[in-house]
Amino acid sequence: MLNSIKNCFNTEDFRKLAKRKLPFPVFHYIDGAADDEVTLRRNTQAFEEVDLIPNVLKGVENIDISTEIMGKKIDAPLFFSPTALQRLFHYEGELAVGKAAEKFNTFFGISSLATVSIKEIGNRFSCPKLFQLYIHKDKGLNESMIEKCKINNFDAIAITVDTIVGGNRERDLYTGFTSPPKLDLKSFLSFAFHPDWTLNYLFRKKFELPELQDFVQEGTNINISIGDYFSTMLDQSITWDSISDIKNKWGGHLCLKGIMSVEDAKKAIDVGATAIMVSNHGGRQLDGSRSPFDQLAEIVDAVGDKIDVICDGGIRRGTHVLKALSLGAKACSGGRMYLYALAGSGHKGVERAYSLIQDEIIRDMKLMGCRSLKELNRNNLRFR
Ligand SMILES: Cc1cc2nc3c(=O)[nH]c(=O)nc-3n(C[C@H](O)[C@H](O)[C@H](O)COP(=O)(O)O)c2cc1C
Repeated sequence: MLNSIKNCFNTEDFRKLAKRKLPFPVFHYIDGAADDEVTLRRNTQAFEEVDLIPNVLKGVENIDISTEIMGKKIDAPLFFSPTALQRLFHYEGELAVGKAAEKFNTFFGISSLATVSIKEIGNRFSCPKLFQLYIHKDKGLNESMIEKCKINNFDAIAITVDTIVGGNRERDLYTGFTSPPKLDLKSFLSFAFHPDWTLNYLFRKKFELPELQDFVQEGTNINISIGDYFSTMLDQSITWDSISDIKNKWGGHLCLKGIMSVEDAKKAIDVGATAIMVSNHGGRQLDGSRSPFDQLAEIVDAVGDKIDVICDGGIRRGTHVLKALSLGAKACSGGRMYLYALAGSGHKGVERAYSLIQDEIIRDMKLMGCRSLKELNRNNLRFR
């Protein structure tokens, strides 16, 4: 029973399940963050320092929680942030998350380091799709990914701008986590004690990073830590001009993921972005960076009427989404809120995790006396 998703009612329950199911290097890769993990903790704590003020007797029998971002209507204001290496967490990988995105009609973000190809995702899923682009030194690789997004009907590209070098993820240094995972003396016992995971990894479809493997060996055939991958493969010379170039090549909706300052939010508009994800990469990059929720009001006040502002990271509850929307975000997004559940039970886990938070959003909207997301505003909130 302990290992059943039926006993999971919130993100923390799924986290405990993932911890039981995964070899420790893999679990800590998901769960961990940079340096002292101060930012990781703050990302969620920030929501707890603001209180909601409900209104009552508002006739909330029928409510609407749909919103529109990057030109697409989604049924709830929460979507799946792009995350790398998903088939290491469960053999269904991105296909599990895609099924859930399709079922709930929300944005499905996939990473440059996805374990399923852009083509397969494009063929299988008709939900709104976002491709996350890491700008590599290899320009041919960048162009190949952009071209594939065009051919395969992706709706938006999100360029991650906070990963110019790898964050100092010390848990990965302790565990020796690499992509692909290496079986060494240190981790051997953990793999041996998780035979389901190990057998799935060894005998199901071979682990690969389809977008990268024709261009780089690292990550698929050569073991490398994710930090080293970023620091050696990504282009540290990029500037705002590089973003304009990509925008011109792509031509569709462009999102910048990892914007934290008002100055940069304004520049995002100048280069033609339609959306920004206010994000510190789930605390995995610059520890000590402000949390997205703490920084949201400043950014919304400066650019909220000109660009879709998305609050990314720290979301563990429906009330967190309501608080971010009350400050003016158009939607929220998250990684760990679905990754623990993916590790716990593939697509069934992801669907359960998303539907629990979606139910919370609906219940909390009714308890707040709000019939549509437009009714959420700063009068609903008090900072302690
Ligand atoms: C295991 C893991 C892998 C991630 N991989 C990527 C990635 O490949 N590209 C990217 O832009 N962000 C990546 N992220 C960051 C997420 O897109 C998102 O910003 C972050 O998870 C938000 O914080 P949260 O986990 O608290 O929701 C990753 C996050 C996690 C936890």
